[in-house]
Amino acid sequence: MDKPLTGKTIILGITGGIAGYKAATLCSRLVSLGAAVRVIMTEGATKFITPLTLQTISRHPVATDVFDERDASIVQHIDWADAADLVVVAPATANSIAKMAHGLADDMLSTTLLAVTAPILVAPAMNVHMWEHPAVVDNVEKLAARGVTFVEPGTGQLACGYVGKGRLAEPDEIVSCIVEKIAGSRPLRGQRVLITAGGTIERIDPVRYITNDSSGKMGFAFAEAARDWGAEVTLIYGRVDSTPPQGVHAVSVTSADEMYEAVMSRLPEQDIVIKSAAVADYRPRLQETTKIKKKDEVQALDLVRNRDILHSIGLWKEQLKQQGKTTLPFIVGFAAETNDLEKYAMDKLNRKKCDLIVANDVSQSGAGFGTETNIVSLYDADGLLLQLPQLSKKDVAKRVLDIVLARIGAEKGLER
Ligand code: CTP
Repeated sequence: MDKPLTGKTIILGITGGIAGYKAATLCSRLVSLGAAVRVIMTEGATKFITPLTLQTISRHPVATDVFDERDASIVQHIDWADAADLVVVAPATANSIAKMAHGLADDMLSTTLLAVTAPILVAPAMNVHMWEHPAVVDNVEKLAARGVTFVEPGTGQLACGYVGKGRLAEPDEIVSCIVEKIAGSRPLRGQRVLITAGGTIERIDPVRYITNDSSGKMGFAFAEAARDWGAEVTLIYGRVDSTPPQGVHAVSVTSADEMYEAVMSRLPEQDIVIKSAAVADYRPRLQETTKIKKKDEVQALDLVRNRDILHSIGLWKEQLKQQGKTTLPFIVGFAAETNDLEKYAMDKLNRKKCDLIVANDVSQSGAGFGTETNIVSLYDADGLLLQLPQLSKKDVAKRVLDIVLARIGAEKGLER
């Protein structure tokens, strides 16, 4: 599964040219790469290809009229402009390029383009003499100077009969340009990353259980960041507060035992393992099948230790090392503490034999369970490696993955 545009919203603007039919292929490729595509067609475009075609491919109504406001709670062109991660105009006629260059806003597409702050990509298509006309050249230069990216037209047989430059770039070329722009570099391409997230649930009886405060946000942020960098992500998650990100293999588990089985069975295929789940250390010795009734006397809960997944991964890796294996997964463990961060982090690193520990003081505000941000310190075998300021969990994930890349990148030829 490689869907580099997952979670991204792209506005596809189609203007009135014969190459309009290629916009259907472009739309279909973008959808298959995971993008949510919102199509805006000019009146001219609708003469060449029907909005219904694009609606069916994008699975969303197509906008053609700036005054056709269907949802009273929003202003559509502003709403779409705000939601866009990128706008691509393909094909772009000489007229649409001129309107963009001069800031005209007389239809849905040109109005939306003025409201957009996301990157804009333009794929022109026109007759060779039109493309070379000084007015068009000026307009293209003006837009390029404003940061608009052009996917240059190709040379070949033009619909008007001429042979020359002006043919709309092939949809595949436009797609690679979009992926490059939107997804940026994909340094983890080809790497398999296993991430655990959330808390586990240890059943006492059918209506009661033991769990913890983990929201799964940190693990989900790792899954998103690794996915965005091109990794094939397996996300094993327990009790969480939100839905897992798209574009990853998500596996839902309940107890620590289930998480153990889910992780260990997938371990041999992984290049990187990130153990951000808060796994319960204990479970009730007996899980009653009927509801426990209260009694007068004190009720004690008999708990037994759960298997330590991270520790088992560390042991497994040690065994592989002893067998002379050289391609071993990189293991990242976590330590959530309230005191003596360094001491406990280093103890976990040595005991559980991980390559890196991401430690945080959960008593600090802006760090730990349920928050949008985290404040972490990273430890490796030599001790404190890096102390990060308060960052969004996604940024924490990226900084940690940066370190992982630096460690494994050289031998695997991965580059940031
Ligand atoms: N972990 C695990 N399996 C367990 C328990 C913990 O894989 N049964 C992992 C967590 O995913 C995390 C790290 O181990 O990466 C946390 O270490 P742990 O020793 O469990 O932390 P605490 O339980 O908070 O440790 P302590 O009770 O020693 O403070």
